[in-house]
Amino acid sequence: MKVLITGCKGQLGNELRLSCPPSIEAIYTHSTELDITNEITVLSFITDFNPDVVINAAAYTAVDKAEADKDAAYAVNAAAVGYLAKACKQNNVRLIQVSTDFVFNGNSVDGMQLTPYLPEDTVNPLSVYGDSKYQGEQLLQQEMSDKADSFAIVRTSWLYSSQGNNFVKTMLRLMNEKDHLGIVADQYGAPTWAANLASICWQLAQRADLNGIFHYSNATGSDQGISWYDFACGIQVEGIKQGLLNATIPLNAIITADYPTPAMRPAYSVMNCSKLNQALNIEPNDWKESLAAMMKQLS
Ligand SMILES: NC(=O)c1ccc[n+]([C@@H]2O[C@H](COP(=O)([O-])OP(=O)(O)OC[C@H]3O[C@@H](n4cnc5c(N)ncnc54)[C@H](OP(=O)(O)O)[C@@H]3O)[C@@H](O)[C@H]2O)c1
Repeated sequence: MKVLITGCKGQLGNELRLSCPPSIEAIYTHSTELDITNEITVLSFITDFNPDVVINAAAYTAVDKAEADKDAAYAVNAAAVGYLAKACKQNNVRLIQVSTDFVFNGNSVDGMQLTPYLPEDTVNPLSVYGDSKYQGEQLLQQEMSDKADSFAIVRTSWLYSSQGNNFVKTMLRLMNEKDHLGIVADQYGAPTWAANLASICWQLAQRADLNGIFHYSNATGSDQGISWYDFACGIQVEGIKQGLLNATIPLNAIITADYPTPAMRPAYSVMNCSKLNQALNIEPNDWKESLAAMMKQLS
């Protein structure tokens, strides 16, 4: 089986490279050799390499920057996904697209959402980033409407890895630099180690019978998920254990209003991952175990 990977220098792209199954011949492309916003390049790359599957790990992921940089966000996260889908359809190629929990708004009809989101639940993104990713989902499904058996969209959340910029690495840096930190404690979700997500993508690449929208994150053990504050506490505990931090500092729980950001984020974006876990017959990875494994790589 031949698989083309886009965005290979990102968190997910890098983990895909580290975990490629031996039976798969993969070609890894980065933004300078395959700019997915260039429709002609996308078509010629897919036609020439003639893969069985494309895994799109490329994205515009700067959530706050996207608010002022809308055109770039929509170009990469929406239009380009349409180009990939069109080229895949023309060449009879399966497409694995990665999307986000930020397509949801965190609100139920009566207030805050308290039940993990199912793949078919109504979306209502609060940010440019979330909307651009949703538009990408839509363009892909429109392009593939008569080939609905040839794509999988995996929504994931709070992604981190030992490579690249992410919450875990930022927290470790700040915990070494500061004498205390305030962390948002009223946004709930589920972290996901990019290595676990890479494994899911490889499995989906080889399971042409699994099509449509799926959710995947690490498991938090409760419908409530965890807050960024809980996540930071877990990072500190593990950082001390693994010698990445010299001393603990006080972590203060703050509210979203005390930490204003350009982009609005859902107060609750926990996803129900049962559809994918059952289809692949896997036990969900526990968030603390995945965090420990990632931090072991750092130490
Ligand atoms: N990070 C998260 O917290 C998070 C949460 C939920 C979902 N996701 C989704 O998970 C997927 C993987 O995210 P990630 O964290 O691995 O992303 P990432 O680390 O930001 O990597 C994205 C990669 O995409 C590449 N890229 C950007 N524009 C491109 C273009 N026009 N053509 C080709 N490549 C381009 C970037 O390359 P350059 O650096 O060269 O531009 C970068 O290497 C994305 O679909 C993202 O939306 C992420």
